[in-house]
Amino acid sequence: MKRELVIVLDFGGQYNQLVARRVRECNVYCEIYSYRTEIEKIKSMNPKGIILTGGPNSCYGEDSPTYSKELFELGIPVLGLCYGAQLMMHVLGGKVERAKVREYGKTEVVIDKAQSKIFENVSKKTVCWMSHFDYISQIAPGFEITAHTSDCPVAAAENAENRLYAIQFHPEVLHTAEGTKMLSNFVLGVCGCIADWRMDSFVEESIAQIRERVGSGKVLCALSGGVDSSVAAVLLSKAVGSQLTCVFVDHGLLRKDESDEVEAVFGPLGPYKLNFVRVNAQQRFYNKLAGVKEPEEKRKIIGEEFIRVFEEEAKKIGAVDFLVQGTIYPDVVESGLGGESAVIKSHHNVGGLPDYVDFKEIIEPLRDLFKDEVRKAGLELGIPEHLVFRQPFPGPGLGIRIIGEVTADKVKIVQDADAIYREEIAKAGLDKEISQYFAALTNMRSVGVMGDERTYDYAVALRGVKTVDFMTAEAADIPYEVLSRVMSRIINEVKGVNRVMYDLTSKPPGTIEFE
Ligand code: XMP
Repeated sequence: MKRELVIVLDFGGQYNQLVARRVRECNVYCEIYSYRTEIEKIKSMNPKGIILTGGPNSCYGEDSPTYSKELFELGIPVLGLCYGAQLMMHVLGGKVERAKVREYGKTEVVIDKAQSKIFENVSKKTVCWMSHFDYISQIAPGFEITAHTSDCPVAAAENAENRLYAIQFHPEVLHTAEGTKMLSNFVLGVCGCIADWRMDSFVEESIAQIRERVGSGKVLCALSGGVDSSVAAVLLSKAVGSQLTCVFVDHGLLRKDESDEVEAVFGPLGPYKLNFVRVNAQQRFYNKLAGVKEPEEKRKIIGEEFIRVFEEEAKKIGAVDFLVQGTIYPDVVESGLGGESAVIKSHHNVGGLPDYVDFKEIIEPLRDLFKDEVRKAGLELGIPEHLVFRQPFPGPGLGIRIIGEVTADKVKIVQDADAIYREEIAKAGLDKEISQYFAALTNMRSVGVMGDERTYDYAVALRGVKTVDFMTAEAADIPYEVLSRVMSRIINEVKGVNRVMYDLTSKPPGTIEFE
């Protein structure tokens, strides 16, 4: 698949993935690499443009991440953002110093060179997101200042002849009102990309590629009903049809009616006519979980049992040539194969080879995609919207939304309460606004009164959060009437519950899950 490429060189900034996503929103394919990537490798990829990210260091520091001058002499357009901008100036003979005060937050930037290609169709005064201590006190020879703020003499600079651009602020974050326009000006206007990255061609090309790679081989896929595995399975089935077998394990910890919904879509009567094996392993999981209270232990048991069940099914199917995994691009980046965050996180098992299935090769058809692109591919493949825009759901499922011991009765309670909650949120039109919401079952029982009877029942906890990246989150402020309706329906309709509470905790200090 030959397509034009823009490279993001990561200097350890927190927005590295965001930069790449924004570029892709311009329909230009973009990949993230560490700043340690050799110049020869960069040349061999023949990028149309290079973007240097921000980063936490000072570019004049002795051990700070840097790049040789050669990078700016390749004849390839370079855009430096924040640290990247300072580094460009530093390496090319300008000066970067520590400012007296940090410039942080939304800042008005004044564009001094209206005809700059980067600022084409951008307002003369525009709001941008600043976050820096160091500042460019002197631009490098050959450069001119193209924007400033009241605190920062060089908010942007350029050497238009050599197609080198430096921007002190962060066009990739949404607080920069016209940031997407600036990035698109760079990739389309300066780099001359023709914007050939589209989901319809991705789907088409992937199908052709998979077909060629798989030939007449046998393929196995673990389908969870989640977005990634669903899109991967459908993509594979379009490519190789009945050579693909999907195994769906119902561990009895899914949401209400979810396993039937998955079967309705992916099973023999659904539109895709997949070779679909549903394993009803509910009781097996409940047996293993009996008496277990500790959340980490529950997670471990569920994970291990899942492997055992899958292994047994795989044995029945026999040796396969390929195993499908739903790895997506953030997993690749965060596991160290992409940018700099590499060093921090290593828990993702990218391309890891499960030894419990007899297979020859792994296929990861979504390895290059961000989550929103996976969703677009899903829609392109005709997967129903309710599956494509599904909320995140943890692998161990309701097992970790039941505090204390998991039993079939408790699973039923939390499923029913959760279904009511989701129904009411959707009815109130809030389902797209709240990032994730669900019911959990506390392990607390208390006295209540219903009719004339004393009750001694469980308390259900409702959780609802707003978040962009799921790393931090705020409790969603769901209108009182909606919560009140959910509360009264749960108490009236779900046996075994006599109190309902809303969890106001943000993350940190809480987590999103309630386990
Ligand atoms: P926490 O609870 O850590 O959750 O704030 C952050 C996000 O991750 C999801 N989550 C999981 N997803 N397997 C998953 O695939 C898991 O074991 C798991 N645990 C938490 C959680 O739903 C939230 O979206």
